[in-house]
Amino acid sequence: MILGAGIFQLAGIRRAADLGCEVITVDYLPDNIGHRFSNESVDASTTDVDAVLDAARRMNIDGIVTFSSDVATRTAALVGHHLGLPGPSVSTVDIMSNKSQFRRFQAERALPSPLSTTINDLGDVERLTQNWTEPAIVKPVDSSGSRGVHLVTAPLEWQAAVEAALTHSRTGQAVVESVVEGTEVGGDAFFLDGEMISGVVTSKYLEGFLVAGHSLPSHIPSRDQKRVLDAVSKTCRELGYIDGPVNFDVMIQQQRVVVLELSPRTGGNGIPDLIEYATGFDEYAATVHQALGRPVNLEKNSEQRGCGSAVFASQEAGRLVGLVDPDEATRTHPDLLAVYSRYRIGDSIPAHTHGGTAMGYVLFSCASQTEYLRKVETLPAILQMEVEKS
Ligand SMILES: Nc1ncnc2c1ncn2[C@@H]1O[C@H](COP(=O)(O)OP(=O)(O)O)[C@@H](O)[C@H]1O
Ligand SMILES: [Mg+2]
Repeated sequence: MILGAGIFQLAGIRRAADLGCEVITVDYLPDNIGHRFSNESVDASTTDVDAVLDAARRMNIDGIVTFSSDVATRTAALVGHHLGLPGPSVSTVDIMSNKSQFRRFQAERALPSPLSTTINDLGDVERLTQNWTEPAIVKPVDSSGSRGVHLVTAPLEWQAAVEAALTHSRTGQAVVESVVEGTEVGGDAFFLDGEMISGVVTSKYLEGFLVAGHSLPSHIPSRDQKRVLDAVSKTCRELGYIDGPVNFDVMIQQQRVVVLELSPRTGGNGIPDLIEYATGFDEYAATVHQALGRPVNLEKNSEQRGCGSAVFASQEAGRLVGLVDPDEATRTHPDLLAVYSRYRIGDSIPAHTHGGTAMGYVLFSCASQTEYLRKVETLPAILQMEVEKS
């Protein structure tokens, strides 16, 4: 059973089917694209634990995973727990999927982390305005894709930032934390029996708090990449997360590396696809096999190949009136590995405000970071995207 049937789950769903699995996809959008590649689909929100558990029992599943979805990780762990399937413990996932609990965990274990405090309602704004003097980041504790994330640099900004964060939280809680300076990287690691069998640090591209893409191999010096992977390993060990994928956001500083976020799932924006292209490690297959209690293939390439992913989106809401046919684009541009679009011509398009409003992403080969940036500049001409303002 795969939680989520959107473009970020698509490659994983197809891989599971290629591996010969009978695939059941779960999504709250009955027409979502991933359902087309599964054997059966369940029309339910991936956050609705009762509905997913009910379907999982009825369909007698052998394993449950999600790809790239933070909010589905808790459901996967709970269903796995109830059905006795392989997977991380619910208490571990509870910490990893709640930003406030994760900060508390880091502080308790003396792991590098920003100063943080939890907010339960707007009544806390006055306390913040009086006591918090440094710039701060305000975030919902249990959302993702930079939804409701704001930087506060002046007292008057607290109210709107806290309101936005609380609105985007399913449990109505927000976390306020000090700003961690440094160079931010992303990436995925995969653990088997406590050992990191794959750990890949990406160069991460951001526009404000929104992820714009990733490239491999990372431009970060290998010594720093090792510091990042050591911090991820140590945090996972302390969490008791010993099997399966983790997606991480880490800030590199001169003196220390700070784990911003650690999620028990594969990364979004094509990270597993990039890892497979670059290193040969098949993280999708590893995730599926691990969830079924089967042996995981550790094979990798002898050499790394360069590649990148780039998100495309519309600054303004409107109607999509132009977009290249993905198959045609990959045929005519051999360095283009894949184009994933959530939308088709005629669809309404939201303005890009968080990860969920991206229109899609592309994967392409590129030799270096310089070439990555150059290719990103050519993407609008290749995608021929046109949005008519509404
Ligand atoms: N304490 C912080 N200091 C600096 N940047 C931060 C901090 N918290 C979040 N960010 C920025 O905001 C982005 C989104 O925050 P994150 O905690 O990863 O939430 P999400 O689950 O929405 O991805 C991060 O990738 C980072 O760029
Ligand atoms: Mg993040």
